[in-house]
Amino acid sequence: MRISEMDVDRVVGYFKGKSILITGSTGFLGKVLVEKILRVQPDVKKLFLLIRASDVESVKFRIHNEIMGKQIFQVLKEKHGLEFDNFVKEKICPLVGDVMHENFGLDTVKLREVSKDIDVIINGAATTNFSERYDVAFDTNVLGVKHTCEFAKKCTKLKMLLHVSTAYVAGEKEGLITEKTFLMGETLRVGTHLDIEIELNLIKDTKRELRASSSTEKAERKTMKELGLKRARNFGWPNTYLFTKAMGEMMIGHLRGDVPVVIIRPSIITSTIKEPLPGWIEGIRTVDTVIMGHAKQTLPFFVINLDLTLDMIPGDMVVNAMMAAMAAHSEDHQAQIIYHVTSSVLNPTPSSLVIDSMHRYFVENPPCKGRNGERVRLKKMRIFSTLARLRLYTAIKYELPLEMLRLLSIALCGVFSRRYNELNRKYRFLMHMIELYAPFALFKGCFDDTNLERLRMAMNKDDQINNGAYSLDFDPKSIHWVDYFYGVHIPGVLKYCV
Ligand SMILES: NC(=O)c1ccc[n+]([C@@H]2O[C@H](COP(=O)([O-])OP(=O)(O)OC[C@H]3O[C@@H](n4cnc5c(N)ncnc54)[C@H](OP(=O)(O)O)[C@@H]3O)[C@@H](O)[C@H]2O)c1
Repeated sequence: MRISEMDVDRVVGYFKGKSILITGSTGFLGKVLVEKILRVQPDVKKLFLLIRASDVESVKFRIHNEIMGKQIFQVLKEKHGLEFDNFVKEKICPLVGDVMHENFGLDTVKLREVSKDIDVIINGAATTNFSERYDVAFDTNVLGVKHTCEFAKKCTKLKMLLHVSTAYVAGEKEGLITEKTFLMGETLRVGTHLDIEIELNLIKDTKRELRASSSTEKAERKTMKELGLKRARNFGWPNTYLFTKAMGEMMIGHLRGDVPVVIIRPSIITSTIKEPLPGWIEGIRTVDTVIMGHAKQTLPFFVINLDLTLDMIPGDMVVNAMMAAMAAHSEDHQAQIIYHVTSSVLNPTPSSLVIDSMHRYFVENPPCKGRNGERVRLKKMRIFSTLARLRLYTAIKYELPLEMLRLLSIALCGVFSRRYNELNRKYRFLMHMIELYAPFALFKGCFDDTNLERLRMAMNKDDQINNGAYSLDFDPKSIHWVDYFYGVHIPGVLKYCV
């Protein structure tokens, strides 16, 4: 389909009769995607859901509980009524698989059978933990992409591979960040060159040495986590997650051959704004950690520059953009196109708006705690605009008293040692979490989304926003951030994540 010929019906029509392999369907975005395709295109041929499990029965169990059992499927269930289970059985094909393995670990027979059928691959699987062990992050986010590319080349009638990356592969760049592909070996730090093979060998050698020295599981985990952060920072990325996601993109460019590829780079994905129900979200991450920390009064301070903007985009808009991009570039063998699915250029959200909406929400709707539902007494969160300021404050307010408690405990033969250990652990955890999120909260760049704007312009605007039963809106300009945060997102986080 040429971009100029796009409209909602054609985009939705594109999925009719198609067999689509999806990785990451048990995750947050994966569920929004699976639900949307099944709802708007019931004539899709099959959705092959590649899921980690010991056998196919366990995959079916996971689909039943972790996907179809979630509230986001309520609208689809109501649509199909008693026929829902039959519809799911007909459309969903469970596949036991792991992207860490070549051919996803499928046996030869299964591989042959599946690869004949697949029209589209959507790779959403990733480890999204910012400080994941280097070996796990590398196996999933780098080798996982390699295995997906190799698998794609075996699919004889493949029309499209869509890979989900993140806008923050740009690291901590400032200014306008363009939808530009990564070249193999490219880094964010001048004077360094990245060799993915060397990284792989480094991981293998480190693990071999650790095992030779009979190090404990805990020590191995710590070393592998530190190694990821060290390598990421060496090449200019703030954490292991973003570093490995960037290497994943490099893998695609290197290996895709003539497979048509779309890479979508969303920014911070927030709850659905509209479909199938407003406010649906899963997993407490980034901005929601701050919201929940405030609600529970476990996050007394945070670092965020209120003069900057936060780039966020609701999950249903990300899925709408994915569907439009797949239809637009199907069978375009020249294509390896990047789409920033972001909001910071067209409708930036001031960080202050997020923090103010959060304070206002909890003042007007004080959260409850305990068995009897007593109201939490809210204290305003202290906000620091730089990590240096926050560290100075915490050194005086927390580290000094902690150190005094430690010394007192030593003087009194360890009488306060349990209390000290507990407070110290909580404090270290808080600081670690804040430092992990700081690159997002202090981000000074904004994401150019010219490619996505071109897609949006090509589609009929009214059609995108309201097609009656569903929409394919992915225009951040249609978001009223205050209404969304106060009326949709915060209640959604409280309803679906707690
Ligand atoms: N959430 C965001 O704000 C955000 C922003 C930008 C980009 N993204 C990207 O969007 C994609 C989806 O994110 P999400 O938030 O939905 O992530 P998520 O909730 O953490 O889900 C990750 C998914 O990947 C699967 N997975 C992990 N390792 C796997 C493996 N080795 N083999 C097969 N499947 C594996 C998980 O399966 P299990 O259930 O078995 O663990 C899960 O289904 C990711 O690629 C992420 O990088 C997310």
